[in-house]
Amino acid sequence: MFKVNDNYLKLPGSYLFSTIGKKVAAFSEANPDKTIIRLGIGDVTQPLAPAIIESLHGAVEEMAVAETFHGYAPDLGYEFLRKAMADNDYKARGCDIAADEVFISDGAKCDSGNIQEIFSLDNKIAVCDPVYPVYVDTNVMAGRTGIYDAVSETWSDVIYMPCTAETNFAPELPEETPDIIYLCFPNNPTGSAITKDELQKWVDYANKVGAVIIYDAAYEAYISEENVPHTIYECEGARTCAIELRSFSKNAGFTGVRLGATVIPKDLKQGDVTLHSLWARRHGTKYNGAPYIIQRAGEAVYSEAGKAQLKDQVAYYMNNAKTIYEGLKSAGYTVSGGVNAPYIWLKTPDKMTSWEFFDYLLEQANVVGTPGSGFGPSGEGYFRLTAFGSYENTVAAIDRIKAL
Ligand code: MLT
Repeated sequence: MFKVNDNYLKLPGSYLFSTIGKKVAAFSEANPDKTIIRLGIGDVTQPLAPAIIESLHGAVEEMAVAETFHGYAPDLGYEFLRKAMADNDYKARGCDIAADEVFISDGAKCDSGNIQEIFSLDNKIAVCDPVYPVYVDTNVMAGRTGIYDAVSETWSDVIYMPCTAETNFAPELPEETPDIIYLCFPNNPTGSAITKDELQKWVDYANKVGAVIIYDAAYEAYISEENVPHTIYECEGARTCAIELRSFSKNAGFTGVRLGATVIPKDLKQGDVTLHSLWARRHGTKYNGAPYIIQRAGEAVYSEAGKAQLKDQVAYYMNNAKTIYEGLKSAGYTVSGGVNAPYIWLKTPDKMTSWEFFDYLLEQANVVGTPGSGFGPSGEGYFRLTAFGSYENTVAAIDRIKAL
């Protein structure tokens, strides 16, 4: 008789954004006359930039002709995109990353969930609290996290690094030594960022204790401050301790197109084994590559026209972030984030729990956000709003919240 992977049964509830989706769908069905504004999941709303559309059209035409048709993509990604990323995301910033250290995928969510497979189950992970739930949930599925305590909402074998107002929503070096450290900056969900000097401390620490940092840089395009690093490889020594996840979802609006990348420097080793070789083996075995058409669209992100158009798109969303930040602040809310990230993190009013505020906002203002507690116990009493809506909807949502 078959047996299921009972690690899945340990997961409390469904995936955060599925839970929210179901709640909103139920509310919408019961209140068909209400216009709901969705500032919950960080999903983009603006159309793809013209340079990307042009590239997509060109690639589709190529697929219509035998001479330029493309079948299976190289499993590690097309050289043209790997090189564009190495040149623009790394070399242009003075970082030593080669094209063959970039692995193209269909998105950072999958990579951030799959990467744990190349590590032994004995490894202890450390995560920020609050945190993007994929990092923890996928380690639960693998059986790496121990026992769940429903009261504290924590796993016995996970090291939690609280990111609270007291720590400026940044983690401190943990007391217990981890093997794998997940960091995401600019941060989802709090919208906080850390300076290059602060990130250097993590790189030095990881190299000292022999840990790997899995660095999620999905929001780097939103950095507006000078001293905030765009990649962990700006730090000295990161080649021997860090894997970086890159996404095209937020910087180029590919949430529905799907494209991402994982960077693994060849210097990242345990003994003679490079993590690069393990990830290459996994990619080759389990993955047939992101589609040619989509990788050509990704290449257009790095064209001169693409860069200019995407700069405007990021500015559009960051204007929303400012609108949310300033609107809520003027209404007396305690807010942070929104300067180097498209997320605004606010304290719930009147000591409401995060889910109480979620229901209140949905029912009274018909605005959807994300409860902070869904990201971890230290998120309780907080709430996340995304700047990825349209400007009109963002203004309307803030007006509704102010009117409560
Ligand atoms: C979020 O809302 O946290 C993100 O959009 C989720 C994701 O990128 O998968």
